[in-house]
Amino acid sequence: MDERFERYVTELFAAEDPILSKIRARHAAENLPAINVSPEEGKLLYLLLLTIGAKRALEIGSLGGYSGVWLARALPPGGELTTIERDPKHAKIARESFATARLHGRVQLIEGSALDVLPTLHPGFDAVFIDADKEPLPKYFEWGMRLLRRGGLLLCDNAFFHGAAIDENDRSGPALGVRAFNELAARDPRLVATIIPVRDGLVIGLKTRDAA
Ligand code: SAH
Ligand code: DHB
Ligand code: MG
Repeated sequence: MDERFERYVTELFAAEDPILSKIRARHAAENLPAINVSPEEGKLLYLLLLTIGAKRALEIGSLGGYSGVWLARALPPGGELTTIERDPKHAKIARESFATARLHGRVQLIEGSALDVLPTLHPGFDAVFIDADKEPLPKYFEWGMRLLRRGGLLLCDNAFFHGAAIDENDRSGPALGVRAFNELAARDPRLVATIIPVRDGLVIGLKTRDAA
C-alpha cells in the first residue's frame, strides 16, 4: 500500500498507546529486525479476533511480542495466546513486552522450533497467526488447519513477500514456501480465504469445514 495511505490509516485508526510505543522503542534499542507487523496490521488482527470472539489463539513467530500484544488484547480474561519463538533473545524480549502490557497472565510463550512445538499443542484454537520462517509454510498450513476449530481463522503474514510471491524467477526456498501457502489457502475446500493487501499482504481464511 502507498505509504501515505498507510500513515493515514495508522494515525486515524491504529494509533499506538504508550505501551505499544514503548514495546517498539525497545525493539529498536535491542536491534531486533524491524519485521513486526505494522500498527494497522496489528489493529486488523485485533479486530479479526474480536469478530469471532476468539478465546484461544496461536502465533508462530513472536519476535519481540508486538503482534502478540495486539492478538492477546483481543482475548477475554481467561483467554490465552500461545506464541512460539525459537530465538532465546527474541523470546526474552517478548516476555518482557507481555509483562509491560500486563498480559503475561494471558500469554504462554513456548521457546522452541515451531515444527517441534506444534505437535505438542491441543487442537481447538479459534485463530492461528503464522509469521515465522517461510520455507516450511506448507507444513504450517497443515498444522494450522489441524489445530483450528471449525469457524476459526487462519492468518498468515507476508503473502506478497516483497514481490517474491509473483516473481516466477525466484525459486528460493522462502519464495516457494510463500507461493505454495497462498495456493493451498486459495484452493483448500475447507477454507474461505483471501489476501488483504495490508503492508506485505495478510492471508485471512475462515475454516468453514473440517473435511473436504
Ligand atoms: N509476529 C512478530 C514478527 C515475527 S518475525 C510481530 O509481528 O511482532 C519472525 C520470528 O519468527 C522471529 O523472531 C524468528 O526468530 C522466529 N522464527 C523463525 N523461524 C522459526 C521457527 N522455525 N520456529 C519458531 N520461531 C521461528
Ligand atoms: C520479513 C518480514 C516479515 O514480516 C517476516 O515475517 C519475515 C521477513 C522481511 O522483511 O524480510
Ligand atoms: Mg511477517
